[in-house]
Amino acid sequence: MRQHVNPLSSFFQLPLEIPPKDELFENSELPIHLDIGSARGKFLLAMAKLQPNRNYLGVEIRQTLVLKAEKERKALGLNNLRFIFCNANVSLEVWLGKMHNQNLDMVSIQFPDPWFKRRHRKRQVLQPSLLLSIANCLKPNSKLFVQSDVLDVINAMTSLIELSHCFDSSGSSEVKFIDESPFPVSTEREKLVLSVGYPVYRSLYIRNDKMIPKLLELEDKYSSLNASMQKKEDNKHL
Ligand SMILES: C[S@@+](CC[C@H](N)C(=O)[O-])C[C@H]1O[C@@H](n2cnc3c(N)ncnc32)[C@H](O)[C@@H]1O
Repeated sequence: MRQHVNPLSSFFQLPLEIPPKDELFENSELPIHLDIGSARGKFLLAMAKLQPNRNYLGVEIRQTLVLKAEKERKALGLNNLRFIFCNANVSLEVWLGKMHNQNLDMVSIQFPDPWFKRRHRKRQVLQPSLLLSIANCLKPNSKLFVQSDVLDVINAMTSLIELSHCFDSSGSSEVKFIDESPFPVSTEREKLVLSVGYPVYRSLYIRNDKMIPKLLELEDKYSSLNASMQKKEDNKHL
């Protein structure tokens, strides 16, 4: 199995500048979908071809995958799509800050790398600081979609999103997960998981008009929640 990239290693802490939207896309006024952890890019390549009236930005920490995805994008002449090599936790927040209240209307995090050990939790891509940058950037009614085949991973993402109070779930209060992806195309990982019949957990959130909480406040709530979940887990093994 492929070893995940450790996003906390010093090499991946160097900030890289993501160009402004008018340098990324031919028509930068079209609505933008940001996909975090776009891997080899097959999902966004298909989406950009299917929906030329939208822009797509994929960010990915593995540079070789970005180079391959960009090569294919150029060969297909897709000017509504870009792939950028960066660590989303280091370089994305500045770009999102500049996009406040603009035309980014969808953010997706699909099958993020699972980090099972407790001491590795900080390596998970959706951290309080990135979530608040997303929430701060999105206008009300814009969407945040998360999916995973690992229950702990989806639960960590949905708990954090819900603790922020900045998003309303698109499902009913009793049903946390939705059955279908909102997209007409499956990601590479999604296809693999579905082909072997494993479950996929999906949640779609809508940005509400609530103010974003302070980062320290959200970090405190999130670490208390993680600590209480860990305690429950430890008690199960006693
Ligand atoms: C399991 S793959 C899923 C890829 C794709 N979203 C899919 O569903 O097929 C997770 C991807 O996220 C990338 N990734 C992990 N941490 C990242 C980070 N901090 N910034 C950007 N990309 C990251 C990994 O390199 C990997 O390509």
